[in-house]
Amino acid sequence: MTHNEPLNHTGRKGIAMAEKTITIRDNRSGREVELPIIEGTDGPPVVDVTGVYRDFGIFTLDPGYRSTASCRSRITFIDGEKGILRYRGYPIEQLAEKSSFLEVCYLLMYGELPTASAFEEFSEIITRHTMIHEQLRQSYTGYRRDAHPMAIMVGVVGALSAFYHDSLDVHDPRHREISAHRLISKIPTIAAASYKYSIGQPFVYPQNRLGYAENFLNMLLSVPCEEREIPPSISRAMDKIFILHADHEQNASTSTVRLAGSSLANPFAAVSAGIGALWGPAHGGANEAVLKMLAEIGDVDRIGTYIDKAKDPDDPFRLMGFGHRVYKNYDPRAMILRQAAHEVLTELGRENDPLLKVAMKLESIALEDDYFVKKKLYPNVDFYSGIILSAIGIPTNMFTVIFAVSRTVGWISQWMEMISEPGHVIGRPRQLYEGAAVRDYVAISQR
Ligand code: CMC
Repeated sequence: MTHNEPLNHTGRKGIAMAEKTITIRDNRSGREVELPIIEGTDGPPVVDVTGVYRDFGIFTLDPGYRSTASCRSRITFIDGEKGILRYRGYPIEQLAEKSSFLEVCYLLMYGELPTASAFEEFSEIITRHTMIHEQLRQSYTGYRRDAHPMAIMVGVVGALSAFYHDSLDVHDPRHREISAHRLISKIPTIAAASYKYSIGQPFVYPQNRLGYAENFLNMLLSVPCEEREIPPSISRAMDKIFILHADHEQNASTSTVRLAGSSLANPFAAVSAGIGALWGPAHGGANEAVLKMLAEIGDVDRIGTYIDKAKDPDDPFRLMGFGHRVYKNYDPRAMILRQAAHEVLTELGRENDPLLKVAMKLESIALEDDYFVKKKLYPNVDFYSGIILSAIGIPTNMFTVIFAVSRTVGWISQWMEMISEPGHVIGRPRQLYEGAAVRDYVAISQR
């Protein structure tokens, strides 16, 4: 590939004239194809390869999307080398310190910070739609009692489409907005109910007098015979966890939501698909895996053994909560939560909790270990969110569910952006076929 000087190449209809191009030469035929380079606001430019198959008869191959931008977006920006994360241009550090999760929801959905009156209206809508249909609540009893709450989440969020037929026209912007409001309002209730069901406790109804994070903690930790007092510092820590997980560009679950939604499936079905993708331990499931790993290590004396296992190329074990596909120097969310984790542990007097002691020691050893330093494997957001949630007393199997609660606004904002894009098309990747060449069917008696 060679870079070329400015050229009048318009690429696709609607794309600004490409200033620069890249030329690909096919050595088999000697043919050359010029591809437009498109610059975004920030971050690496992209080569528009949409015409490669049409003009050249070849596909591009990029398993794991290490070099592929899957879409255009105006929502979230990440610079993995510099450790930058911004929502709609606002640095995550400022939002975590000065904003609230509901304000961040507005920002992600609508693109701007709300005015005071717009925020009041938005908060009112989200707060007044927290209940779920009683029939939906009853549907929980159809799950096995020992079901993982994420399994229930996948089912119940998808089932919202069976209850809200009135907002499923994906071509109608107002329907899209109503569905988004419903998802953001109801997801904490759905999540808390999935936990209550799995431990055999009665469902705690949402309380609209409480803030978003406080209401969620109340539904999770209270019982109908006794409300649990949630200290403001704990609600604030939860709100911060929600803010930091609210969106993260085109990660596996968000890409899943976009792909599922690209077929014009309804948003509840698309978000349910995203929850499924989030569940895996390489993605949102890592926060739960962190705590399981800490329990397995059990004692600071055993950390060395696990560090050795993580370094052993023949051992599949990985230190959960370390490393990131995009952040190769540090995860800015982890920096913020690291401080919050230490504050919460001190506030709750949990510094001497044996599990958390293992976590803190593991963090300091891994930060200095040559293997982790050289490979740029730093603690990620899940390492610290797991520690905070555990200190608050939230059961491990709810960690990924909490990630899903936070990410719902990101998923639905990305879905809204995708579906309203002019010239929207279904996402349909191609492949490099490496299977058998054509052959004739052989009758079973002759095989
Ligand atoms: N422990 C030990 N070695 C590791 C780890 C780890 N956690 N992560 C990566 N490596 C090694 C890996 O073995 C490989 O070594 P080598 O070059 O010798 O083969 C090298 O580092 C690069 O790893 P990779 O798998 O090519 O990196 P990736 O970008 O594909 O994977 C990751 C990123 C997050 C999947 C991976 O770091 C990992 O599995 N981490 C543990 C799970 C985890 O904490 N996930 C949460 C991510 S943050 C939340 C979110 O955004 O979803």
